[in-house]
Amino acid sequence: MGGQGPVRVAVIGTGYVGLTTAVCLAHLGNTVIGVDVDEAKVVRMSAGDPPILEEGLGDLLADGLATGRLTFTTDTAAAVRNAKFVFLCVPTPQGADGAADLRYVEQASAQIAPHLDSGAVVVTKSTVPVGSAGKVVAALGRQDVAVVSNPEFLREGRAVADWLHPDRVVIGAEHEWAGQALSALYEPLGAPILVTDPASSETIKYACNAFLAAKVSFVNSIANLCAAVGANATDVIAGMSYDHRIGSDHLAPGPGWGGSCFPKDTHALLRIADDHGYRFELLEASIRANDAQFDTVADMVAAAAGGDVSGVTVAAWGLTFKAATDDLRDSPAVSVLSRLAARGARLQAFDPSQPVGSDPRLDGLDVEVFGDALSAARHASVLVVLTEWPEFAGADLRHVAEVMSGSGLVDARNMIDPARAKAAGLTYVGMGRS
Ligand SMILES: NC(=O)c1ccc[n+]([C@@H]2O[C@H](COP(=O)([O-])OP(=O)(O)OC[C@H]3O[C@@H](n4cnc5c(N)ncnc54)[C@H](O)[C@@H]3O)[C@@H](O)[C@H]2O)c1
Repeated sequence: MGGQGPVRVAVIGTGYVGLTTAVCLAHLGNTVIGVDVDEAKVVRMSAGDPPILEEGLGDLLADGLATGRLTFTTDTAAAVRNAKFVFLCVPTPQGADGAADLRYVEQASAQIAPHLDSGAVVVTKSTVPVGSAGKVVAALGRQDVAVVSNPEFLREGRAVADWLHPDRVVIGAEHEWAGQALSALYEPLGAPILVTDPASSETIKYACNAFLAAKVSFVNSIANLCAAVGANATDVIAGMSYDHRIGSDHLAPGPGWGGSCFPKDTHALLRIADDHGYRFELLEASIRANDAQFDTVADMVAAAAGGDVSGVTVAAWGLTFKAATDDLRDSPAVSVLSRLAARGARLQAFDPSQPVGSDPRLDGLDVEVFGDALSAARHASVLVVLTEWPEFAGADLRHVAEVMSGSGLVDARNMIDPARAKAAGLTYVGMGRS
């Protein structure tokens, strides 16, 4: 229950952020209506069938439906009427010029505007550029409601746990009463709550994603350096992690960063900086290093194939941008495979979250998706591990080596024991370790 007691909440857009927000707010005792324009999604959620893969989401969805505190609809007007808080959780994709496209935020604002109760608080949870709060105010055209920025920091794959146990809650409010009301809603989480102005709140979200992306670009560069100088990246990174100022989170080398947030948010921040006359060179370098990382991994696969992948069968373990999610948006695995396809490789893959066959979300990438890791490896010259699904670490490598036609193993996640790979007869290469 909120510090102010349970309240009525509408959540507009029930994707990774919106559905997680809806089930968690209902779990806290509030009455929540989730709204989506996607009717099929609404039917699935209403039947207790989560449209996305997230640990714990199904249970909270079932609880919310059973208690009657959680419902879903396509009817925005009905959902918003009598709601004290209306959360905007719609997409903010990258526009053609790199900036965040606010179209869905503005559309949703216009749709809710006529139906909002006087004194309602509209909460922008979508990641939006600095100054967007003013645009939401303009799109609403209502002087009797408040607009509050409340960026979301959850990680896909751990969305529910992150939402219920956040490191902090950030609230950017122009009106003190609205900031206090939203703080009270979050009070039961027991997390630190930072209340600031909307521009600072909007900047915090981009600053965090840019920092984390830069951290991964940095560690990937260190791993590449280790490969060049003959150092062991695993030991180098362990040695760095002991330093509390550095820490071990987001310090694992890999095929590059991706997913639904980092790529678009880093580009959006570059545009924000540029629009205000500041050249953010460090961020530019992080993005360049990341693009180069996809080629670095493709080069490693080519080297494992003898220098050229044209006509060579390459098996990929992992397609999603990280483990524990089914999200393929801007996946580095897909970026690496696209580069291999452009060089003429024949691709076959397995990902625990992906159905057998080719998936339209793979952006036209010609890859045959198998139902298990061994089948995907069959007849492949090179196997590349692209997503850190835990089951890959324990795979029976002798069996894998038997079904492959070649012996190359590129471990872009440093999750396979090189000694085990060697014992199985595979030629192992990892990120900064061999
Ligand atoms: N995915 C993440 O890990 C994450 C984390 C933090 C912040 N964010 C931010 O949160 C926002 C949403 O991201 P997401 O990954 O949940 O997106 P998503 O694509 O998974 O979900 C968005 C949902 O909004 C719906 N929608 C679009 N317009 C609508 C409208 N007018 N009315 C009702 N529903 C509408 C879509 O049908 C979709 O179901 C983005 O700004 C994103 O940057 C995402």
